[in-house]
Amino acid sequence: MTANIPNPPPPDDPSIAELIAARPPLATHPMDGLMLDGVALNAIADALGTPTWVYSAATMRARLNELAAALRGAGLNAQIRYAVKANDHLAVLRVFARAGAGADVVSEGEFLRAREAGIPSSRTVFSGVGKSTAELRLAAAEGIGQINVESAEELHALSAIAAGMGLTARIALRVNPDVDAGTHSKITTGRAGDKFGIPYHHAAALYATAAALPGLRPAGLAVHIGSQVLSLAPYRAAYARLATLVRDLRAAGHTVSSVDCGGGLGIAYRNEPATTPAALAGTLRDAFQDLDLELIIEPGRWLVSPAGVLLAAVVLVKQDNDARFVVLDAGMNDLIRPAMYEAWHGIVPVSPVDAVADVSPADVVGPVCESSDTFARNRLLPPLVAGARVAILDAGAYGAVMSSTYNARPLAAAAMVDGERWSAIRDRQPHAALWRDERVPGWLT
Ligand code: LLP
Repeated sequence: MTANIPNPPPPDDPSIAELIAARPPLATHPMDGLMLDGVALNAIADALGTPTWVYSAATMRARLNELAAALRGAGLNAQIRYAVKANDHLAVLRVFARAGAGADVVSEGEFLRAREAGIPSSRTVFSGVGKSTAELRLAAAEGIGQINVESAEELHALSAIAAGMGLTARIALRVNPDVDAGTHSKITTGRAGDKFGIPYHHAAALYATAAALPGLRPAGLAVHIGSQVLSLAPYRAAYARLATLVRDLRAAGHTVSSVDCGGGLGIAYRNEPATTPAALAGTLRDAFQDLDLELIIEPGRWLVSPAGVLLAAVVLVKQDNDARFVVLDAGMNDLIRPAMYEAWHGIVPVSPVDAVADVSPADVVGPVCESSDTFARNRLLPPLVAGARVAILDAGAYGAVMSSTYNARPLAAAAMVDGERWSAIRDRQPHAALWRDERVPGWLT
């Protein structure tokens, strides 16, 4: 017989009211419940069902403006290239396209999405450790703003491709600065031994090679140390190394006009002390101000994560001795971050009654047949009943883009709100679409 293990005492989590208060796009209306901008999330769930992603266009715009203002305020000549991987929905890309941002893409698909949404290829950066020949050809042919080259092998391949097409591709060398970003090990990218970038000590020689190869115009350097970076110290360390490299390259007679400083700016999912765009801008200024460079930054999460929620409904509540399992109709196939990175996401009730009810600990889980299908453990929540709705917060980045159809669960619907209006921006995937592209060989029939 197993001993009855009681839940440990609730952790020092922010309360539901604190979570909402810390997120300006969210509010609780006494009648309509949880609102995103001016729209009741219940109205969207009534119309589209659950699970459904909901994104606030106004929040994305406001965050882009805040970041741009911080960069301007620090006197920087800096371009923002939104990291499409964070949320590649066409409507999201359109918000950024209309606001004048560029794109950071890592695949042909992301490139085509950004182009479809109206982001000019001249404002697009192509990153990634394994660009295929077809992708390099496409990038060169479309006159992409910059290709961030990650290896000597890729440099030679691109030179041959571009020269063969009679084109000159603007490139930057992505340098691995050997800096630990201090984030989750699965999303740190700038340590020696990580697969990304050119080892710091090889970069100067490779830059000289690039300058001598046909079909290439080396414009500068790039770096990206990781994602969900919460402190400035690793940025300072990485940028200092890059600045040294810029000086060394110039002293050797090379032209270096641009540094792509990557993305990674973290957000407070729980109540982490996170850094700010103004602080990041100050760090960029301190590192590069006397070098007369055009800077590029590639933020993803910071721009879109707080602009999105995943709406879900309670399927049932399973009372198991001392444990309360709130089983949602959203699962790890929709939002994989908790399963993959032990990520903490706020979970708040949508109903105005639930928002003020007494709370007690619960494990919030999905219906998928894996123990890792757990959104939260031991979370203080009201007595949610079957059908009650919750919003999983900060789901605008690395949410829908990382969804799968595991357990043959169709991809969720999505909506966008903008002030008082909202629109469905993605239909829930029909079941038949799950096997639409599959073929059963004739010899099995
Ligand atoms: N630039 C490059 C070259 C990148 O690899 C990334 C993210 C970014 C920019 C944007 O980073 P951000 O500003 O969004 O942190 N799925 C993980 C995050 C993976 C990030 C991968 N690269 C998560 O859910 O936390």
